[in-house]
Amino acid sequence: RQVLVIHGPNLNLLGKREPEVYGATTLNDINDMLKKRASQLGLELTIVQTNHEGVMVETIQQAQDIFACIVINAAAFTHYSIAVRDALAAVSVPAIEVHLSNIYRREQFRHHSVISPVVVGQIAGFGADSYLLALEAASRLIRSE
Ligand code: DQA
Repeated sequence: RQVLVIHGPNLNLLGKREPEVYGATTLNDINDMLKKRASQLGLELTIVQTNHEGVMVETIQQAQDIFACIVINAAAFTHYSIAVRDALAAVSVPAIEVHLSNIYRREQFRHHSVISPVVVGQIAGFGADSYLLALEAASRLIRSE
């Protein structure tokens, strides 16, 4: 079964970007961890990183009929992109929302996610492990279908 992982804006800078918040792990490290775990779980992974809202919208639209689950860290788009939310609502592919940081113990403007109402659930605050936990959740979701 195929899982689509989407990394949003500025996540290409992980490792260099605010390491006190996001840790020293790079996006490549995270992707390697995900690929390793995916093969153990018998999942096929496609990984996309984009800094562009429109590309994120199109990536979600194209997931229809191809992917069994989407794991998405929409990064800053989480907090204001109605377009990303609408794209997630438009496809029938279940999505799991991921954040490295615990967005609820940070600035007020990060406390609200506009995508939470259209995803199955959210995992936040475990650093790079948030992604692994989300992949685990995706695997269970797919198996329970
Ligand atoms: C983030 C949290 C967002 O508030 C922020 O804009 C990000 C990363 C996280 O993974 O903790 O870019 O999604």
